[in-house]
Amino acid sequence: MTIRALHVASELYPLLKTGGLADVAGALPPALIERGADVRVLLPGFPAVANGLADLRTVARLDHPLLGSRAGLQHSAHATLELGTLPANGLSVYMIRDDALYDRPGNPYLDAQHVPYGDNAERFALLGWTAAQLAQHADPAWTPQIIHAHDWHAGLAPAYLRAAERRHGRRLAHTVFTVHNLAYQGVFPAQTFDHLALPADFFDMHGVEFYGQLSFLKAGLYYSDRLTTVSPTYAREIQTLAQGGGLDALLRGRTHDLTGILNGVDYGVWNPATDEALAARYTRSRLAGKRACKTALQERFGLAQKSDALLFGVVSRLTEQKGLDLLLGALPEIVSRGGQLVVLGTGDPALEAGLLRVAHAHPDAVAVERGFDEPLAHAIVAGSDVIAVPSRFEPCGLTQLYALAYGSLPLVHRVGGLADTVVDASLENLADDLATGFVFERFEPEALGGAIRRAFALHARHGEWKDAQQRAMRQDFGWGASAQRYLDLYRALVQEPAAA
Ligand code: ADP
Ligand code: GLC
Repeated sequence: MTIRALHVASELYPLLKTGGLADVAGALPPALIERGADVRVLLPGFPAVANGLADLRTVARLDHPLLGSRAGLQHSAHATLELGTLPANGLSVYMIRDDALYDRPGNPYLDAQHVPYGDNAERFALLGWTAAQLAQHADPAWTPQIIHAHDWHAGLAPAYLRAAERRHGRRLAHTVFTVHNLAYQGVFPAQTFDHLALPADFFDMHGVEFYGQLSFLKAGLYYSDRLTTVSPTYAREIQTLAQGGGLDALLRGRTHDLTGILNGVDYGVWNPATDEALAARYTRSRLAGKRACKTALQERFGLAQKSDALLFGVVSRLTEQKGLDLLLGALPEIVSRGGQLVVLGTGDPALEAGLLRVAHAHPDAVAVERGFDEPLAHAIVAGSDVIAVPSRFEPCGLTQLYALAYGSLPLVHRVGGLADTVVDASLENLADDLATGFVFERFEPEALGGAIRRAFALHARHGEWKDAQQRAMRQDFGWGASAQRYLDLYRALVQEPAAA
């Protein structure tokens, strides 16, 4: 039986990307389709989406009941549902066209001052509401059996669906909610609820209410049939008081509905043998190209052209989560040992400034580029010896998986998906042919310093370093196994008896 599933998300690579969510939204649906599912995606009609989709046609007019919550932001209640295809692979993508809400340049969530848009509740409520409309035949030609919502932006989809099911007196679709990051909860003032046209009794501790406010994330966690997150370790971590972001009790209560399914890598996009963004291509048996990538990277950033300098790379959002403040503290040690560092990222101005200060002090060893640059991200992952991901917490993390594929050994904090995917180069792991990177236990300077010293020590032993690189490149984190697990989840759901 073919299962029809609608993925609901706010970004999708290659149309629009601010982080790993886009990579997952772009790669998981095709992987499910490859395994026989009938999958479509629903996105807000941001400019990059409207401009990037091919063959767009109107499917339905959406007369929605959502109101702008601020004076002067009284939106029209008319949007259109359009269906197009992703030119790269023909994926069917629905898009909500509502120019008042979505036609804004730049970041999909933040204005030019990096402040969240004042009407984000309505912007993303419409996403959830439209998903529920699709389960009510908004497109007469295609109705999903599964609504698979990602992160807080899509958190109201299961709530609107539940409200519709109450009106219809029967189940309309089954819901899966995936937490990519519990730190972003979509919390809004209580009065926002009045504009969302949800049943009044949904504003409850057993519902969308979260300590007196409205939480989109909680809505997703509360109203969905099944919950997933993006690694097994993170699935355990978010059920603890320390890492549950105030939602741990809810998550512990739903422990039997919650699974951790590791993200995969789209090896069509991240493959050093075919990557057009690299100065040279390479494979694990022909690593010469990787050396050329390192030289090109040192040149690109004006670093000393030393082939034996241990080159650390970072490609990251510069936020508290990513732990780069800890790395900043370790830079003197890296530099004094003759190492180098290249950083690509944007975010926290204080962190940007701190990194830039070190770069100015050591221009031949440290370079920082602010911005979001997909080809440069590939060039850094390929040209570095080590990719550092010292995150405080990390639901899955894709960068370390890309690093493995490119033979750049990841240096990571042992949390979340990082703990599930990288094996430390301890003596015993090296002896057992298991080591693929450097893992530190505690989020403390001494622990990070120890991992950095292990990296230098291994790098000095050329043969063992090469063995670890080749082992890293042999790891298979493709989508196959994970897509199959999502599919099994969908199958189990559609076979459940349809309770009213
Ligand atoms: P997160 O989603 O928390 O940001 P992930 O490791 O899951 O972390 O995914 C990050 C994705 O965003 C990767 O594809 C990475 O290459 C990309 N990325 C992050 N920062 C940048 C940047 N400044 N320029 C280009 N790509 C970036
Ligand atoms: C989030 C997480 C990251 C994860 C990504 C995709 O942005 O921070 O760890 O890999 O989502 O699931």
